[in-house]
Amino acid sequence: MGSVISMWMVVLILLLFHHTLVVSGNTLLAMPFSEESKNSAIEAYNNAFYNKDSNLVGYYCVNTAKRGKPGRGNFWTTCEQIEALEDAAKRSSPMKTVYQGMITELVNGLNQIVSGTPHWHSWNMFNDDIMWGVIALVRGYELTGKTNQEFLHQAQVQFNEVWRRGFDDSLGGGLWWKYNDPVKTKNACVNFPAIIAAMYLARNTVNTGFRSQAEQLWKWSRENLYNETTGRVSDHKKSDGKLDTKSYTYNQGTFIGAAYMLYLHTRNKGYLADCRLAASFAMKHLTTKSKGVDILDNNEGNGNDGPGFKGIFARWCSKYAKKADDETMKEWLCANAEMAWKNRNRETKLMGTKWQDPTPHNRELTSWECSSGLSITQNAP
Ligand SMILES: *[C@@H]1O[C@H](CO)[C@@H](O)[C@H](O)[C@H]1NC(C)=O
Repeated sequence: MGSVISMWMVVLILLLFHHTLVVSGNTLLAMPFSEESKNSAIEAYNNAFYNKDSNLVGYYCVNTAKRGKPGRGNFWTTCEQIEALEDAAKRSSPMKTVYQGMITELVNGLNQIVSGTPHWHSWNMFNDDIMWGVIALVRGYELTGKTNQEFLHQAQVQFNEVWRRGFDDSLGGGLWWKYNDPVKTKNACVNFPAIIAAMYLARNTVNTGFRSQAEQLWKWSRENLYNETTGRVSDHKKSDGKLDTKSYTYNQGTFIGAAYMLYLHTRNKGYLADCRLAASFAMKHLTTKSKGVDILDNNEGNGNDGPGFKGIFARWCSKYAKKADDETMKEWLCANAEMAWKNRNRETKLMGTKWQDPTPHNRELTSWECSSGLSITQNAP
């Protein structure tokens, strides 16, 4: 009897040990996320969704069935899909000229098809939408060799319009989320992207004041929307001063992005500490455990805007983790990328937004829901 028990003990110990080996083995194998998989992921996405409309004009269609023209409602998601392609261009080495060409075509498409005008603010009352667009444009300007001066010019005009209509001193500073709206809130989703946008503009212009606008917004946003004990980024503050503390992956992400951009300029390590805490908050609270990995999942599978949120987090958290050489975050992001990629559709290679589940194959997929998998695969270390 004694020997039977000890035999089982040995088996049990071996099993436990084996499990640990597999788990840590997975994590180790996940680093880095392979170049080959990154290339396959962006090629699959472009094959499924990219449309060239005419000379120098392109767009991402709304879903796998609808290769028709996207409507105005898709403005900000289109901007973020352009950003995911910009991520692919940035990490490709040597930079793929085909991606550079698509960036130009997509920005032209954003103006001519999705918006119908380069003056987005003329019809779009969401100040955050304009800021996402400004980021996509300035990144596009940088990534296409700083030759498309009109991208940079348009970005400045749009940023300035939002500042003019969105900034005031009530609640102590910060930008309002929407223009001309009775429901007045100052939101994370506009203020942190505006800081990122301003820092991109600042490094491409001289004597424009964008940097001090970024610093001003940072001061207000960090004081009012960030909890420096927990790393939580609250969604918004209402005009009566009440805080809505709901947290989302994209807000954690753009908080990290804003701190990261300010770090690049100042080299002040405090910004990296902020990035780390905000990333840890997301890892702890905005994930679902699957096969030993905390998979980013903030109930984002439902709803119109939610499915792409974590792609924004993936972008900025990866930039931070690489810059700070934060091994914990790097491994975690790679494990998320591996999970998304492992669960891709075998035929189309598209990734759904629930990375821990196989990509749905019995319905049409939207280009927006597939963009979060695209972002994590392009950005993971
Ligand atoms: C930060 O979060 C903790 C835990 O939820 C809470 O007790 C504290 O009041 C928060 N701090 C601020 C300044 O809101």
